[in-house]
Amino acid sequence: MPATVLVGTQWGDEGKGKITDLLADQMDIVVRFQGGNNAGHTVVDGATELKLHLIPSGILYPHITPIIGSGCVVDPQVLLREIDGLTERGIRTAKLMVSANAHLIMPYHRVLDGARERKLGNSKIGTTRKGVGPAYTDKAARIGLRMQDMLDMKIFRQKLDAALAEKNELLTKIYDLPPFSADDICEEFTGYADRLSTYIADVPYVLNQALDRGDNVLFEGAQGTLLDLDFGTYPFVTSSSPTAGGACVGTGVGPSRIEKVLGIAKAYITRVGSGPFPTELNDEIGHMLQDTGKEVGTTTGRIRRCGWLDTLILKYAVQVNSLTHLAITKLDVLSSLETIQICVGYEHEGTFYDRLPAHQSVFHKCVPVYEELPGWGEPITEVTEFDKLPGAAQSYIKRIEEIAGVPVELIAVGPRRDQTIWRNKQGGPQAARTLQ
Ligand code: GDP
Ligand code: IMO
Ligand code: MG
Repeated sequence: MPATVLVGTQWGDEGKGKITDLLADQMDIVVRFQGGNNAGHTVVDGATELKLHLIPSGILYPHITPIIGSGCVVDPQVLLREIDGLTERGIRTAKLMVSANAHLIMPYHRVLDGARERKLGNSKIGTTRKGVGPAYTDKAARIGLRMQDMLDMKIFRQKLDAALAEKNELLTKIYDLPPFSADDICEEFTGYADRLSTYIADVPYVLNQALDRGDNVLFEGAQGTLLDLDFGTYPFVTSSSPTAGGACVGTGVGPSRIEKVLGIAKAYITRVGSGPFPTELNDEIGHMLQDTGKEVGTTTGRIRRCGWLDTLILKYAVQVNSLTHLAITKLDVLSSLETIQICVGYEHEGTFYDRLPAHQSVFHKCVPVYEELPGWGEPITEVTEFDKLPGAAQSYIKRIEEIAGVPVELIAVGPRRDQTIWRNKQGGPQAARTLQ
């Protein structure tokens, strides 16, 4: 299974970090293909909890080559902070590679992200304010600066001058904010360039060579399907392509090389930031999910909105990502519930929908239709085999599988690596690979 793509099937925070770390055991390379430090991926190794924003979640394994692909946007200040934080913990980052073509998040992108959100007022997206959207905007407008520009500060300066000519007008005249000085930015980035130049690599070449050799490559998605710029709940989305196709666009590996697409779904759903959320719970069950699931944003510290699992979203994710497998995380968080609701349709003005409505006004106003399943009412955090799960928990997984039409390969019942149930008898990533 040389090339596996891992994606979020909801609005992010599905537990991608945990599953990536788990699968990395059997991989040679883990590559991020989109997003920036808006991501917050949690990896728990024994007593150590790591929150990674930019560096791939396979970093804990010395055998892994972690790669940041060209579809990502990189804030060099954040990258260096992450490298230093990992080094302090004794985790080596020497093998890290960053695509020469990855775009840079510049200081003015961070400021513009906040300024645009303030201007939008009640219509704000609720971005992470890390400058991600403005950096992708400049990439598409062809006035962005890239990692490789730091290898030649003369070119960097020329491109910066061109970008600032426009940005400073925008900052001063539209947002009433102070302009940026090109000299200051150049000085700051010369320091970053000195430290980061050794990581800059020809990523498409490295990845394709690795795949030719038969190496195992895991493409680690950030965010989730409904935050996708094209397929998500626009405009309440991020500015990149977190769906499986993004893995190709964001790394320089063609689709024929992808053999497996694993979708990560929480046993319920969460969302940070604004936007529609049909199954959102604003009652005591919603609060229970927030508390028990520790649903606080990894990147921004915002409380995550919580709701019942929505299988219309899941089916949509299966479709737009061509998922071959599913991983269900945080099943343990539902353990105290007497009954569990699972959304199987929407109703809007007398019409029943069994798939996501294409028109966003319907999605904003629809009423979820639920199927009720029994809860299991006992802790499952130490269960390691599917057959040992309470019957009701097994039924919940089987129902999800039935509706999604894709096998649930693994189930997470806690944040640790060992709190994982593999659906095959042998257990573990190696055995899972024989399923292919
Ligand atoms: P990501 O962005 O998709 O990587 O997810 P986050 O790391 O932002 O959020 C997932 C949170 O749930 C993290 O704190 C994980 O440690 C935790 N987590 C992952 N899987 C499980 C699980 O099965 N049960 C519980 N209780 N927590 C989990
Ligand atoms: P991981 O990888 C959850 C959300 C923001 C906001 C919208 C746009 O940890 O799953 P942006 O800063 O990207 O312009 O914000 O997207 N968002 C996430 N929500 N998990 C994430 O990443 C997210 N990254 C961005 O809250 O609604
Ligand atoms: Mg997260």
